[in-house]
Amino acid sequence: MATSAARRLRIVVGVTGGIAAYKAVSVIRAFVLDGHHVDVIATAGALEFVGRPTLEAISRNPVHTELYEGVSEVRHVALGQQADVIVVAPTTANTLAAIAAGLAPDLLGNTILARRCPLVLAPAMHTEMWENPATRANVELLQSRGIIIVGPGSGALTGADIGVGRMSEPEEIVTATYRAVGLNAGASGERGTQDLLGKNVLITGGGTREAIDPVRFIGNRSSGRQAVALAEAARDRGATVTLIAAHLEIDVPTGVRVISVSSTAQLGAALDVEAPANDIIIMAAAIADYRPVAVSDNKLKKNVMGDEPTLALVQNPDLLTALSASSRPDQFIIGFAAETSDDHDTLLSLGREKLARKGCDALVVNGVGWNAGFGTETNDVIVLARGGDILVEVSGEKRAIAERILDITS
Ligand code: CTP
Repeated sequence: MATSAARRLRIVVGVTGGIAAYKAVSVIRAFVLDGHHVDVIATAGALEFVGRPTLEAISRNPVHTELYEGVSEVRHVALGQQADVIVVAPTTANTLAAIAAGLAPDLLGNTILARRCPLVLAPAMHTEMWENPATRANVELLQSRGIIIVGPGSGALTGADIGVGRMSEPEEIVTATYRAVGLNAGASGERGTQDLLGKNVLITGGGTREAIDPVRFIGNRSSGRQAVALAEAARDRGATVTLIAAHLEIDVPTGVRVISVSSTAQLGAALDVEAPANDIIIMAAAIADYRPVAVSDNKLKKNVMGDEPTLALVQNPDLLTALSASSRPDQFIIGFAAETSDDHDTLLSLGREKLARKGCDALVVNGVGWNAGFGTETNDVIVLARGGDILVEVSGEKRAIAERILDITS
């Protein structure tokens, strides 16, 4: 299990009523062995699955269950106020909904409402419950508030069912918890560099879509993989990360606040709100340059459009150029350039011209094509500094490229 060494955390572990409660014991044990103080809050349902003596023996502390116990010490808020991080493992669908709604039906709910620290939830439920639109909406709402959702994974559920909804493994929950407080406990157990601790990093990723009518849009092939790799790398280096995500083809990373957008206008509006609070802004999204002049309320019909229809387009504002012009000197703005050329010199001159036009601090020039850049696991980039000097040239996995891009910000 990962070691988190020097800092002794006060961790509240909430355990709710699901079969995965037995795995909470391993989560608690890992925290205790890593030297942290653990307060367990168990719901009545949790105690149906795992006994109080087990939780007390493993956490080495009394287990809290009752809202009306310890009233003189205001326990229903004190535990939340004092915690460095709260982890709820497992989180049932019911608890997830209660947290999303801000309900405080029991000691755990009160503690969560009274906290100022990060909250990590490890959901566990049947596939149908996880996929229910109400749960989907709750998860999205919680993530938009910066609450970290770990998993769930896929596998055997209670009874004969198999599918998505199985609580993540204890090691993954422990790692996500340490990340949430800026302790990087990677798989190796070593703390990696924390050079972005205290920094706010904003990343745009994916590809925007411009509606033509209710069923059609103008879009592009960006999968968001490079943006997600950047978000994960920045998170692991200690940053507080926000990802403005336009139609990602992969899962969003845990421990990252995600704002989902669709069109360029929505991405621009999110950027306007988020940019001022960030130290580093990375514009990895593929942003549609044009949108239809008018969006039809009804599906456009062939017999009305004719054989060679034309679609009138209007140019979208260039968000990166506007951002670079309005940014503060203490902010570092990185743009991306998608260019379809195999030739190094051509890429360089296209990149330098784009960098001068956009006015950002650095530009990642990315060769794209039918089989390169978009949707792939690897990438090939040249990073240019303001003025056009080459800072880095690197090929490889998108995560490795992300690390090299972040290196230029410190
Ligand atoms: N970008 C932006 N707003 C737009 C278009 C692009 O902010 N309307 C940003 C992208 O997020 C990226 C950079 O500008 O960081 C370059 O995008 P790219 O598509 O390579 O360049 P364009 O400006 O669209 O120029 P061209 O299509 O002529 O290559």
